[in-house]
Amino acid sequence: MSNTIAIVGCGALGGVFAGLLGSAGLDVVAVCRSEEQSNILAERGLLLIENEKETQVRLRAAPELPEAESFALVLVLVKAFDTEGAAASVARRVSPKTPVLTLQNGLGNAEALVARLRPEQVLAGTTTFGAQREAPGVVRLTGRGECVIGAWHRSAERHERPVAELLSRAGVPCTVAHNILPVLWKKLAVNAVINPLTAILRASNGELLGRPELEPLFSDVVEEVWRVAARYKIGLPTPPELVEEVRRVCRVTAANRSSMLRDVEERRRTEIDSINGAVVRLGRERGVLAPANLTLTTLVQVLSSPSRDPGATTQMGSGTADSMAPRR
Ligand code: PAF
Repeated sequence: MSNTIAIVGCGALGGVFAGLLGSAGLDVVAVCRSEEQSNILAERGLLLIENEKETQVRLRAAPELPEAESFALVLVLVKAFDTEGAAASVARRVSPKTPVLTLQNGLGNAEALVARLRPEQVLAGTTTFGAQREAPGVVRLTGRGECVIGAWHRSAERHERPVAELLSRAGVPCTVAHNILPVLWKKLAVNAVINPLTAILRASNGELLGRPELEPLFSDVVEEVWRVAARYKIGLPTPPELVEEVRRVCRVTAANRSSMLRDVEERRRTEIDSINGAVVRLGRERGVLAPANLTLTTLVQVLSSPSRDPGATTQMGSGTADSMAPRR
């Protein structure tokens, strides 16, 4: 039985998982699209920082999955808009018997994997681990969390326990949910509030809690997620409970700069279309309007549009957006 885990995607979370699993003694292959990044990892290894502790982790790295190799697990952690490409590459190189797990943000990832892979190999899930990429080859673990995973189709259920046990043994606590959809949508509700608001306001997750004027917006966004989910027969906790969950995540990840904030700051494409944009799209398909999610989608699209002057935030006035932003 193979001891090798392939991690497709070398962003903050991909790096942290590679570091954790590699330091637990597993053979890790990190698949990084950028050749520069994969060379750095292959030559120097990965530096995993947690509080004051630094661990140098040896791992293999390549711009493509190695051919003719068997894996215990393929973990997909690319940005949501790159899942289709990742799925195509996994389909070419990985046996249909290998479990493939997505822990990405947003909706549509498992669907993109299933479109290319066998349904009996696809698992989906969420993670509450906090990660930050400090430099190429250097990642910071900003908070230990857990994973919840489940089969996308019933035919993949046989992979649930072995994958959860593999991750748990390697220091990544992982439980199985028999219906993964509500788990993914609950995380979606959290991301739909935290990610665009932190990106628009240039605020850390914790700073969102210091602004009572944002409360009605929290409620509107999660209420829309809840209504759209209900039209797809996905049962979620009540909207007030979801708002409480958003607040809880803001508290436990208070110092985090969300992935979307970092994408906007570094002028990279964001995952807005798979988060708030997906709520709007799926709502439209079932006749549910989601105006708060639509507004946030539009604002983040404008913020991250390539034609936008990088200095524009400072010219937008000295209101909330500016006053919440620690200037760098
Ligand atoms: O995308 C992120 O940054 C994370 O999913 C979350 C939960 C918002 C914490 O920062």
